[in-house]
Amino acid sequence: MRDSQTIVILTGAGISAESGIATFRGPGGLWEGHRVEDVCTPEALADDPVLVHRFYDARRAALAAVAPNAAHRALARLQAADRHDVMLVTQNVDDLHERGGAAQVLHMHGQLLSALCARCGAHTGWAGDMPPGTRCPACGAPALRPDIVFFGEMPYSMDAIEAALARADLFVSIGTSGAVYPAAGFVQIAAHHGARTLELNLEPSAGTAWFDEARHGPAGVLVPAWVEELLAG
Ligand code: OAD
Repeated sequence: MRDSQTIVILTGAGISAESGIATFRGPGGLWEGHRVEDVCTPEALADDPVLVHRFYDARRAALAAVAPNAAHRALARLQAADRHDVMLVTQNVDDLHERGGAAQVLHMHGQLLSALCARCGAHTGWAGDMPPGTRCPACGAPALRPDIVFFGEMPYSMDAIEAALARADLFVSIGTSGAVYPAAGFVQIAAHHGARTLELNLEPSAGTAWFDEARHGPAGVLVPAWVEELLAG
């Protein structure tokens, strides 16, 4: 058996595409009929809270109709095999990694199934609708908002992610366009610290040239094949 490696895996919307969740930058550049900036900025939340809350209510409700696919399950197998130290970082706000069996997931852009109190900062698990003015269970303020990292806000867990990138032997990017920073820059950070880098994406991403190796095709095929390869090595 090869020595255990430290592996950082970054996933994006492409890993959930085969489960039926729309990617952000698909044909037409709209996300479920909206420009990302109209539903994913602090300004949008302030200007039209009803629209923004309804948008995320609909995305949250849609989770019930989707299921994890072979790529989510393969990454969970890789973690469970315990052969390598695997940090799974996702930009996705769905819960398909968890439902696919992943034991540890860092949601750097937040989660649909969580509410954030704009007053006290508490995070509360949330499954139903969240109309504007919903009270925070922790402090009682009518200030709950979707626990989504909007453009212009700081992604979660950056210290832990950057520390893992600095010690990684291998960085793998799956199903992300490489259009949104800081995640788009992880490949350069990992490479700078000496990691090998691999892209698994339907098509070349914006940052494909930064990777040592790139494989292009659907995540549901590429990811299980890569995991089998790694576990057989
Ligand atoms: P994008 O929609 O920008 O990119 C999705 C990528 O997945 C594209 O490069 C597609 O080619 C690829 N793809 C599509 N189907 C695939 C499949 N079946 N298998 C493999 N790859 C496939 O999504 P992200 O890069 O995740 O932020 O977007 C990054 C962030 O932008 C999101 O987290 C979101 C958005 O604004 C927030 O919500 C805060």
